[in-house]
Order: sequence, then structure tokens, then C-alpha cells
Amino acid sequence: MPNTATRQILVTSALPYANGDIHLGHLLEYIQTDIWVRFQKSRGQQCHYVCADDAHGTAIMLRAEQEGITPEALIARVSRDHQQDFARFGVAFDNYYSTHSAENRAFSELIYTRLRDAGHIATRDIEQMYDPERGLFLADRFIKGTCPKCHADDQYGDNCEACGATYTPAELIDPVSAISGATPEVRGSTHYFFKLPDFADFMQRWINDDRVQPQIRNKLMEWFEDGFNEWDISRDAPYFGFEIPDAPGKYFYVWLDAPIGYLASFKNLCEREGLDFDSYWKPDSDAEVYHFIGKDIVYFHALFWPAMLHGAGFRTPTAVNCHGFVTVDGAKMSKSRGTFIKAATYADHLNPEYLRYYFAAKLTSRIDDLDLNLDDFAARVNSDLVGKVVNIASRCAGFVKKLGGGTLSAHCAEPAMVARFIEAGDDIAEHYETREFGRAMRRVMELADEANTYIAEAEPWVLAKQDGREQEVLDICSVGINLFRQLMVYLAPVVPAMAEQAQAFLKLDTLSWASRHEVLTEHAINKFKPLMTRVERDRIDAMIEASKEDIAAEQKLKDAPKGPLVDDPIAEEISFDDFTRVDLRIARIARASYVKGADKLLQLTLDLGGETRNVFSGIRSSYAPEALEGRLTIMVANLAPRKMRFGVSEGMVLASANDAGIYLLSPDDGAEPGQRVT
Ligand code: MSP
Ligand code: ZN
Repeated sequence: MPNTATRQILVTSALPYANGDIHLGHLLEYIQTDIWVRFQKSRGQQCHYVCADDAHGTAIMLRAEQEGITPEALIARVSRDHQQDFARFGVAFDNYYSTHSAENRAFSELIYTRLRDAGHIATRDIEQMYDPERGLFLADRFIKGTCPKCHADDQYGDNCEACGATYTPAELIDPVSAISGATPEVRGSTHYFFKLPDFADFMQRWINDDRVQPQIRNKLMEWFEDGFNEWDISRDAPYFGFEIPDAPGKYFYVWLDAPIGYLASFKNLCEREGLDFDSYWKPDSDAEVYHFIGKDIVYFHALFWPAMLHGAGFRTPTAVNCHGFVTVDGAKMSKSRGTFIKAATYADHLNPEYLRYYFAAKLTSRIDDLDLNLDDFAARVNSDLVGKVVNIASRCAGFVKKLGGGTLSAHCAEPAMVARFIEAGDDIAEHYETREFGRAMRRVMELADEANTYIAEAEPWVLAKQDGREQEVLDICSVGINLFRQLMVYLAPVVPAMAEQAQAFLKLDTLSWASRHEVLTEHAINKFKPLMTRVERDRIDAMIEASKEDIAAEQKLKDAPKGPLVDDPIAEEISFDDFTRVDLRIARIARASYVKGADKLLQLTLDLGGETRNVFSGIRSSYAPEALEGRLTIMVANLAPRKMRFGVSEGMVLASANDAGIYLLSPDDGAEPGQRVT
């Protein structure tokens, strides 16, 4: 790629599902992408990095229901958490959006209608397992039963974990819905299909056009030889997603609108920053578009997605860059071993830049899995970043302060060596460009070794004790600081926070790739502060312990009985601030009534002294509606609204319960509706 004209580059990472926390496996992808983007920006390219939460689908709908909140409330909370996690790891998106957005709806409808009008959509009736109790169709992973081959219990969907057999869910012995426990029945319904075979020739050319890594191309060609099927892109209501235009009750399958979320997030950025969306996405665009993804989602990105784009009149990605999976200490991340580590838990214990460096040091352009070996992690970070790189600055800075008054020597004592360090930037850039980050890091550490050897052999600390050699010492240490500066330019995409501190120490306006050409002479620097401390093994151990606790806490949440709690141990201690977040109010029950079809619930209209709330409460077994009207009770007024089958519940009244009944709380005489309870 010629270096002269500014490149226009759009980069994406896969959109994380909005029903779970970011963990270290995810982070490999976001860190890899962020490093590449920061490198492009350092080189002066016009590079935009967008992402979003993947907010649709059955799993998110069920998760929200389980938590007793609306899907909208769930995805809003998860989006905040995800963005906070990414920020802690220095992953700097230019836009972070959601697939549950107006832009995404518009693009999904546009792409669908264009495909439909061009004849690439088919409809067909298919039969599927249906949960009669919950009233929804069940994907394979929501069906459990006994394996027809080996008779192992409790096997999911279409394959047995015990014997490895594959089958259809209909072949399971005694199948049950994993959601309700009901026995599923087979039902037919009409589905919409994207006619992928229409694009077979186009895709064959696309795949062989350097768009994917060789290993991926081979895999795709195998799939090709097996022949393609049409892709089922619809799901029946109830489903959290976008309804298909002209098909009431049918929704786009989450994987249809998920990649379209890349367009939507970028469109949203374009509107905000006045960029020209079409110049990136028109069929003959000169701009470059790259998707970074994990190896598990190749099918969607390297087959369906380019075909959809092409069929709808958009350009296709320049390349899809695929990475392998993270393992920890040689094994799949494990909840019981404490190696299923959440981003937030890591960041509570260890510097995120350690991980960025470690991933960079081990990343290649291939799709091999990457092992986070925790001992190696500590050793590598300590020896490279702390022992080699930071050490250069810390050995030299004191003498520059003492002998130069904080200003570097007016001339460069080792111009040839400094020139070599500058020139190495071309090779290192090539490694970054081709995503050979491990090679880039090795080259940087070779240079760091050279710099340390130079300083060790020059022994400025020995010379400093001899009279009249001050200038020599200043010269040596000024060279050292210049070399350190070169290294920080090369490392900045990987360790941006450390680079920012280094930039402040060096009193530079930028550490951009081009800025390295100017050698620093007679240049004032700041007082040196340690840029990075060593990784301590006890912090790693504490993180592992905390990860085990994370899982235990999650399990407790899952196992928690849903009804009134009896004989429950006192819950975990909370702070006073936690307590004050619960807004308890005196409420007057203005109206109470039965709810048709619900044998546990009463519908209450609560008067908060001006405002009224609609609340569904599971107290019917102990109270007749008329007995409640007019009495005072206590409610949680700031509970997120919860969508139920009968309507939206806007709060909760407080009651205790035992086997004999339910006991609604009431205040003493004199309390008034709306008053805060503290
Ligand atoms: N929502 C889909 C992607 C839609 S893109 C239009 C999805 N989400 S995910 O949260 O499961 O994964 C997000 C990314 O993280 C994927 O690229 C996935 O491959 C990657 N990883 C998830 N776990 C991983 C590891 N353990 N190791 C490396 N990457 C992993 O898939
Ligand atoms: Zn089996």
C-alpha cells in the first residue's frame, strides 16, 4: 500500500452480545483491533473504529425476563458496563452504538427489501420444536433430553457431550424445553430465507481474492464443495428484534441485523462528524473496510455478509481478519479454576497495559489460539516493559536532570545508532500493518537490548564520579533518552497510557510515527516518574480468587428462588450508599383488582401523593382487593419498570411471607403518601 496518499480506513470488531460481561477472551479481539487502529492513526491515516452491542435475539429476551426487567433496560445497562470495561483497557472506539437503533432498523429494512426485490428471498414452511407453555419456538440449544445413542441424561439440542453423537432434537428421548420444562411439540410456520446459492460464483471469486487468511480460505472452500443452503433469516414472535417489513409477526434473525450494525454504527458516526458514509460503502469505493473477528463467526462474516452486501448494492469488506481463541494456562477458560476472568475483575487487580503488551507479544496474523500463561505473562512483562524499556529512561533521566539542568545535550553523540533506531521504524511498521504484532514487539525489544547494552558499556554512573567528564555523561544519557523516545513511538499503539506518561516526561506534543525523525537535542524534559511497576504474582492470585467469587455470585443469582423468601440467610453486607439508592416511599393503595389469567397477582394503583404507579404484586393469596383499597404501605419507587404479560409494573410493594401467608408492611398512623422512607 503506497504511503503517500492518506488512506481512508474503516475498522470494526465483532459486536459483543448484550447479555454478558466482557472477559479476557473477548479482549484479545478488541485489543488486537485497537492496536491496529492506533497504529494507523499514528501513521496519519484517516482511520475510524466502530463497534456496538449486539442487542437482539432470544437469549437477551430471556435474560431480561429472568432479571425481571425489559430488554431495553437490560441492553442499556450492559452497554454502559461494556463501554466502561473497554475504556479501562484503552480500547478507543470512535463510536460505540447498538444494533437496537433507528439506523440499524433502516439499514436492515433497506438491505432486506433490496434483496427481496432482486429475487434473493424465498419463503418456506418448516417444522420446529415449540414450547406450548411459553408460547415460543425453541432453538436447538433450548431443548434438553436423553441421548438416543448412549442414553446420557440432560443433553442439549443436537449433539451429545457424553458420546459425541449428533442428531436432531426430535430424536432426543424425553425432550423438554430448557426454558419451561414443558414437553415440546412440533409445529410448522413460514420462514424467510436468503438465497445464498444465488451468490456462489461471486463468493468463490471473493474468497480467492485475498480477503481472508489462507487457513480461512481453505476452510471456506471446503464448505463450498459441500454446497450451500439457503439461510433462514426469520424468527417467529415473540422475539426481541426488528419485525420484517411486509411480514407481521416475523422478525429478522439476530445474525441478519448484527453485521448490519457495523453500517449503522458508522452511519451514526458520520452524522455526528460530518463524514461521507457513501464514499466508504459505495460499490467502487477507494476506502478500505476491515472486520476483525474470532474464528467462531467466520461463516457469518465471510459468506453471508459479503453476499448480502453485494446483493444489496454495497461494497464488500477489503478483508476479514480472523483471530484464534484465548486459553489460560493451556486450557479453555474455566469457571471452576477461576480462569474465566472478566475484564472488570482483571482491571481491579492488574494494569490493563500488561495484558495489551502480552497479547501483542504473542499475536500473529494467523488464527492460532493464544495461551495466556500466567507465569509467562508476569515474566514477560517484567523483563520487557519494566526491565528493558522503562529501565533505559530511569537510568538516564537523573543525570540529565543533574548535569544538564533537565535539558538534553546540544549534539547527538551517537548519530549512527539513533539513525538505525529511526530506520527500524519502517520494518516495525510493516509488522504492524500485516498484524504480525509479535514480530514488531520482538524487534522493539531487540532495540531495547541494544540501548541497554550501550548504556551499560558506557557506564555513565562510573564517569559521573570522575572530574571533568560531565559533558560525556550528559551526552550518553541524552542518547539513551533519544533511544527511549524511539521505542515509545513504536510501543505507543500497544501501551497508550504508558506512552502518554512518556510523552509528558519527554515534553513532546506527539509520539506519532513520523515525529521520530526529529532527533531531540537541547530539548528540555520533565522529572522522571516510574512509568510502569512490576507484575506481582500475588495480584494474579488475588484475581483468580476474585474470578471464582464472581462465578459463585452469578450462580447464587441463578439459583435464587423467585417467590417470597423464607428462612433466607441475611444477604451480603452493603454500604450505606447502596442502601440510599433504594428509594422507598409511603404509598396509598388507591385501587386493587384481580388480574385475569394470573392466580397469584393483584394489580395495584399506588398513590404517591400526586403521582400514581401501576404495580403487579404477588399477594393475591392473602388479600382480597377490596380489603386493600385505602390502606397505606411502603413501595420501592425507583425500581426499573418491568414488562409483564399483563402490562408494565412500575415498582414493588414490600411484604414478608411464611407458609401461612403474606404480610404487607404498613407505616404507623400519621405517615403520608409520597414521603421518603429512610
Ligand atoms: N454477537 C456476536 C458477533 C456479532 S458481529 C456482527 C458474537 N458475540 S460474542 O460476544 O460472543 O463474541 C464477540 C467476539 O469475541 C467474537 O469475535 C468472538 O470470536 C470473540 N471471542 C469470544 N470469546 C473468545 C475467546 N475466548 N478468545 C478469543 N476471542 C473470543 O459472537
Ligand atoms: Zn450420547
